[in-house]
Amino acid sequence: METRSALDKPDPRIEGLLARVREDICGELLAINDYSLHAREADLLGMDKVALVLRQILCGEKEHLAHHIKLLLENDPEQADILAKVLGAAI
Ligand SMILES: [Fe+2]
Repeated sequence: METRSALDKPDPRIEGLLARVREDICGELLAINDYSLHAREADLLGMDKVALVLRQILCGEKEHLAHHIKLLLENDPEQADILAKVLGAAI
């Protein structure tokens, strides 16, 4: 039976995929900032329907972010431990 220890070399394919998930997290954060700014611009122009749609999209991006963070934490135990230490029972 095959077992893994902390001294095993990580699988580079899995490490690569986790790196891309972290990049995806960056993309979701950028999207959240962008849609937030765009919704405020629409507010300033009195374009209420546009602002509403942009805020709906913004909520979707926040959900995407949560899913990506969940994926990362399920597959990066070190990151999961650090997040648990920092956040404690905050979540
Ligand atoms: Fe997204």
